[in-house]
Amino acid sequence: MDYRIRSLEEYQTAYQKSVEQPEEFWAGIAENFTWRQKWDKVLNWNFEEPRVEWFVNGKLNITENCLDRHLEKRGNKLALIWEPNDPKERFIRYTYRELHEKVCQMANILKSNGVQKGDRVCIYMPMIPELAFSVLACARIGAVHSVIFAGFSHTAMADRINDAQAKVVLTSDGLNRGPKQIPVKRVVDEALETCPSVEKVIVVDRVGWAVNMVEGRDVWYHEELEQVDKHCPAEEMDAEDLLFILYTSGSTGKPKGVVHTCGGYMVYTDYTFRNVFQYEESDIYWCTADVGWITGHSYLLYGPLLSGATTLMFEGVPTFPDPGRFWQVIDKFGVNIFYTAPTAIRSLMASGLDHVLSYSLDSLKVLGSVGEPINEEAWHWYHIHVGKERCPVVDTWWQTETGGIMLSSLANITPTKPSHAGFALPGVQPILIDQEGKEITENEQEGYLCMKFPWPGMIRTTYGDHERCRQSYFSTYPNLYFTGDGAKRDKNGLWRIIGRVDDVINVSGHRFGTAEIENAINQNKHIVESAVVGYPHDVKGQGIYAFVVCGEEAPTNQENLRAEVIETVVDQIGKIAKPDKIQIVSGLPKTRSGKIMRRILRKVAEGDTSNLGDTSTLLDPPIVDEIVKGAL
Ligand code: PRX
Repeated sequence: MDYRIRSLEEYQTAYQKSVEQPEEFWAGIAENFTWRQKWDKVLNWNFEEPRVEWFVNGKLNITENCLDRHLEKRGNKLALIWEPNDPKERFIRYTYRELHEKVCQMANILKSNGVQKGDRVCIYMPMIPELAFSVLACARIGAVHSVIFAGFSHTAMADRINDAQAKVVLTSDGLNRGPKQIPVKRVVDEALETCPSVEKVIVVDRVGWAVNMVEGRDVWYHEELEQVDKHCPAEEMDAEDLLFILYTSGSTGKPKGVVHTCGGYMVYTDYTFRNVFQYEESDIYWCTADVGWITGHSYLLYGPLLSGATTLMFEGVPTFPDPGRFWQVIDKFGVNIFYTAPTAIRSLMASGLDHVLSYSLDSLKVLGSVGEPINEEAWHWYHIHVGKERCPVVDTWWQTETGGIMLSSLANITPTKPSHAGFALPGVQPILIDQEGKEITENEQEGYLCMKFPWPGMIRTTYGDHERCRQSYFSTYPNLYFTGDGAKRDKNGLWRIIGRVDDVINVSGHRFGTAEIENAINQNKHIVESAVVGYPHDVKGQGIYAFVVCGEEAPTNQENLRAEVIETVVDQIGKIAKPDKIQIVSGLPKTRSGKIMRRILRKVAEGDTSNLGDTSTLLDPPIVDEIVKGAL
């Protein structure tokens, strides 16, 4: 069955069917995949526990669907194009047949290093082909991958490894990032000092550094490669067996391990990829996200490979060697579909039009945006200067927890509008809820965005702590999945995402809990207490503003103290969570019951102190004047 929607009418029919007969609808899509054994029942669910099972008792292996089933028709088609950080270095291309072989070899390396079905494997690697091989190799043998973005610190990595009790770590000696080279293995070594579950470390030689190899624990990928077979049978998995864990921030201090399973995730990422981007067989597709985030999982690897597409992986950054790099890569490979984040667009906008105008960009057909609200100025710039007003911009709203795209226009099929994600995808049943927990049915009203029915790609649990999953997503409103976002529909029913309504901030498309950053800052011995809020930032979307209270022994030089606080955050989480502004204060505005009044701090950070609202319930009202006067 061809399940690509080709007209507005087909979208409407598909949507209607997906709501009226969801099981038949998804079964019809799922039939297009290779199953070792068909499911007994399409869906079991309740949002109280919560319990969600798709394709019950179905047996499959996702890599047979990403790779093996394409071999006959697409064996010589390009599966993966890898473009290195340095444009002078040669790119590498892998056909489906070659990728299949590489994945099988990596799978055999994992096996010979003791990995078995169900074991957790941590992957901490730069954007190199071996990262793709590693992810798929885990899936091939039924090991659960937990990819950790290679910008996280050793402390953050250790927390994630220990939470998942990972047995093996896959990494590299170092990584290239623009003009810099960064040690990676050293970070792993530091993390592993506190990770007793890890038995083996497999190291890819990327930058040619001499690294410390621990006898009996660490092995080189290239040496292991010489000893393994090119064939590796795919492990038979239950549709609800774990495929991966991906850690993401919530409003509490500790990141959660979001769990996705094999069957539903497969069906959902493939379906959404084909339809949103209107992918066609000969298209070259490029998603700039790092595989360390959900976008890289679902739309750099799984979705495109399931669809038999050619997917491009880029090791570098948009501004190296100059801010024309994205456009140069598009022209070099004739990229047809380009998917990136608003923060990248805004940073390239700031470097001037010349860089983009020197490339033809003729091959482009569809542009995508993901990760944060795209402001109108960036939307127009992207549409006019990159897409030459010829390419639809699909603004895709979704989350780590949703597994795949939920609200988005379908390229050239459903309407697009700047700053709006568009209609819900078939199978997605959004609902807006007001302050009292009641449904908002009228358009043009803001509310809390929830989902009232399960979709195949949704989160199943938070690893090792199901109650946390229930609490975080299913307890705010009974029988609904709560997204944590505020949204509204326009008069035509197009969705607009306003932003997070919880204590999560979105910095350059990366999610952090304010409590998580505060916990990190508080690790500094001079800091007694801190409060972190987001504020509007021209390039990052949101910036991190920290208010810190220090102890008596703290350095008197404020710049030194700030540098120390930054160092602590970099050490605890990573450079990506560095506060943009740190204001040193003598106290925080608190209610008599000791609760920090974040509302006031947010206003100060936004530079809007004209109306701070009622401060009479504060324990120490004069502190507000001090904070306002010292605002950065
Ligand atoms: O607030 C929404 C924002 O990013 C959050 C999800 O973050 P994460 O799990 O890291 O996934 C990012 C990539 C899917 C959402 O709760 N967000 C994501 N996409 C959009 C968005 N906000 C507005 N428009 C979007 N297109």
